[in-house]
Amino acid sequence: MRSLLIASFVFAGLAGNALSHPTKNAGPVKRRKTLGFGPDHPHAVFHSSPYQIQTGFAPMSADADPIDVAHRFVKDILGTQLTQSMSYKIRKDSYTDKNTGVTHVYVRQVVNGLEVADGDMNINIKDGMVLSYGNSFFKGAVPHAVGNVDISLLSDPHRDYCDVLSDELRANTHSRPYESQVAFNNPHISELSHVHLSNCAHQNLPYESPSSFNQDDPADFRPALLQFMVAATHNDDVVEDILDNFDKHMNEMIVESPTEHFAPTDGPAELLVNNVPDTVNPVKARLAYIQVPGKEAGSMHLAVVWKFEVEMQDNWYEAAVSATAPHRIISVVDWASDAPIPTEPEVSELATYNVFPWGINDPSEGDRAIVKENIDSLASPAGWHAIPYANDPSLKGVRFSKKKGFWRNTTTTWGNNVFAQENWEGQNAYIDNYRPDAGESKAFNYKYKPKVTDGSDAQEEAQKYINTTIAQLFYTTNLVHDLYYRYGFDEVSGNFQQYNFGRGGKENDAVIANAQDGSGYNNANFMTPPDGQNGRMRMYLWNTANPYRDGDLEAGIVIHELSHGLSTRLTGGPANSGCLGWGESGGMGEGWGDFLATTIRSNSTYSDYAMGAWAANTPKGIRNYVYSLDESVNPSTYKTLDKPGYWGVHAIGEVWAEILWVVSQRLIEKHGYSDVLFPPKPDADGTIPAGDFYRPSSGKKPLVPKHGNSLSVQLVLNGMKLQSCRPSFFDARDAIIQADQVLTGGENFCTLWEGFAARGLGPDAKVEGRTPWGGGIRTNGYNLPLACRDA
Ligand SMILES: *[C@@H]1O[C@H](CO)[C@@H](O)[C@H](O)[C@H]1NC(C)=O
Ligand SMILES: *[C@@H]1O[C@H](CO)[C@@H](O)[C@H](O)[C@H]1NC(C)=O
Ligand SMILES: *[C@@H]1O[C@H](CO)[C@@H](O)[C@H](O)[C@H]1NC(C)=O
Repeated sequence: MRSLLIASFVFAGLAGNALSHPTKNAGPVKRRKTLGFGPDHPHAVFHSSPYQIQTGFAPMSADADPIDVAHRFVKDILGTQLTQSMSYKIRKDSYTDKNTGVTHVYVRQVVNGLEVADGDMNINIKDGMVLSYGNSFFKGAVPHAVGNVDISLLSDPHRDYCDVLSDELRANTHSRPYESQVAFNNPHISELSHVHLSNCAHQNLPYESPSSFNQDDPADFRPALLQFMVAATHNDDVVEDILDNFDKHMNEMIVESPTEHFAPTDGPAELLVNNVPDTVNPVKARLAYIQVPGKEAGSMHLAVVWKFEVEMQDNWYEAAVSATAPHRIISVVDWASDAPIPTEPEVSELATYNVFPWGINDPSEGDRAIVKENIDSLASPAGWHAIPYANDPSLKGVRFSKKKGFWRNTTTTWGNNVFAQENWEGQNAYIDNYRPDAGESKAFNYKYKPKVTDGSDAQEEAQKYINTTIAQLFYTTNLVHDLYYRYGFDEVSGNFQQYNFGRGGKENDAVIANAQDGSGYNNANFMTPPDGQNGRMRMYLWNTANPYRDGDLEAGIVIHELSHGLSTRLTGGPANSGCLGWGESGGMGEGWGDFLATTIRSNSTYSDYAMGAWAANTPKGIRNYVYSLDESVNPSTYKTLDKPGYWGVHAIGEVWAEILWVVSQRLIEKHGYSDVLFPPKPDADGTIPAGDFYRPSSGKKPLVPKHGNSLSVQLVLNGMKLQSCRPSFFDARDAIIQADQVLTGGENFCTLWEGFAARGLGPDAKVEGRTPWGGGIRTNGYNLPLACRDA
């Protein structure tokens, strides 16, 4: 057991180094530990063709309330399954997309008054018709009441996952992977071992603990929570302390909110738990069901679990741990993702920033220039430097006089969309951290002249331009907010804003953007809790060069991170942050960020692009391949996912990003290229002029971007809204094709299929034996649908 713990540190370090190449002044680089796995849902579907939507379901009238349509549809699908003990609820974060008119309805399965944490439906409805839906509801016989589950019938997804990973590692390394240092010449294998060690290092430990679980009392969350903390913590002292003092920690936990155990109807109350080791905020705990594969092939059972939301320094977990056998962690999603990277206000005088302007990916591509705050009356009606007093977390508890008005104007990098500050200490507090104050002029004009140092003071050298860094991070993050807003990531769909202008959605969730965060090097990460809680982005310095390079200055990395917030909030609905946790869906969570970052930096002359090349100080960047149309440069296809080393989300993501890149180039070939990705600003009366950006439009027809690159971005975002929770590559592809159907009537049907099929994701692509952590055997599909073959 001990040797396992020690090895985990060794590997974490090695794996971290594998990300970047060795450098002269290498500092303490460590890969963040993150858990991510869960049961496969072989019965889950995403149906987007009319033939797949139940034929018995007649469309309702075009002006029917979409929620009524959803109720009817769900009842139709569930039929006799719907009983006293098995029901559903329509989630409040369902919404209608303003541009497409599609209503995205999110449905949660409820059994015996408990939610089924992974029983999700998303139903896309327009004009009384169901366009598509995803469904992962549990289909088996439901238990009669909440009670113990015979765990001997269940398989243990966590153990299965770890067993398979270790078999893979054994097969791919010549020495025994956990006991000795393995020379990782092959970066693919090092990724695998990182995944293994992050997830499986402590899997057996909880058995040792004295009062590890009480079969008869599934209502006591404490053993399950402590055992999860053993697996989740980065700190071996904490592991030891929990195991040695298990009862003491059990007794020290304090529950803040009511402790009803099983509320009969509305589901159990959510508990807020204090004094949980290694957490930075009270843990939320709630009883639920989750679907677990049985020992018999193909069978699924419902297990009673504690669902925890655990906020730690470097992770923000949503975990399901068996309530009856608390050593079984059944699923974990880390809301953190790495990237190796009332009245409309008058806008005060525009701020200016001395920054690498939008489109310049990093300092190697161009010079800084003075640019103006972008005022887009749709995306940021109050500008970037204003925030309502009532939504300002720095004024919490401060009484302010009515005279002051509603809006507070700021002269720092503190606004409605983003709070940007240094975080050299790498801690969670941010409100009082330093940020530049440009005064009344709001001219954020600072020096950036980093010098070569003797190595030991490289960090201090970078800290000298902190003003520049924070201003750049604030600028990039606000522009990304405004850009994504204009493509439909708005208040109702879960965007990040402190104040939502009365336009729906949950507020008080601007992005907390930490520059030069001291919690790591050579990376970046983003934590996406559900709508209504702040996203948290941490950007790091890269010790890959002298002087150090600052990830805040590489737009691609910032865009990649912010795109985690986008894809997580759009997939499965704003209130569900658990839809992109692992495997193919987790991988696509990475891929969208690379694709969007690459699309944003591209220009009308085609080029290949690397990710993170400047920060990592290597032309090939931080992925296995640069993004390229040329198969000899980037050979990734769907089948590439079968390779060892393609089990981590970043490797999966780069395959997805490459496929999207190929698809988008087809659209560019067909529709040309727009030099500006930002749609035109609305006229004074609120109408959006078509300009050269949109096709001429009339009436209720949605606005359609005219050019290939802007259309790709639109289809990718609309696809995220349509696809199911925990989508596969197939589901995400089908959602993009349906997004085109909704937006253009399907005029790019064949163009899109040609792009997907070029990289093996045609309609005849197949996968057998897919597992949540990757694996399975895939077959590339290069054929086109029949309708496209003769064209
Ligand atoms: C903020 O700026 C606007 C525009 O200059 C001004 O009308 C408003 O009074 C300012 N608000 C405060 C609280 O100073
Ligand atoms: C940052 O800018 C402030 C003015 O906003 C200035 O007083 C301070 O010296 C600058 N800090 C550095 C490190 O240049
Ligand atoms: C387009 O981007 C490429 C790659 O960054 C660059 O070499 C080229 O100069 C750019 N072309 C234009 C017209 O900006």
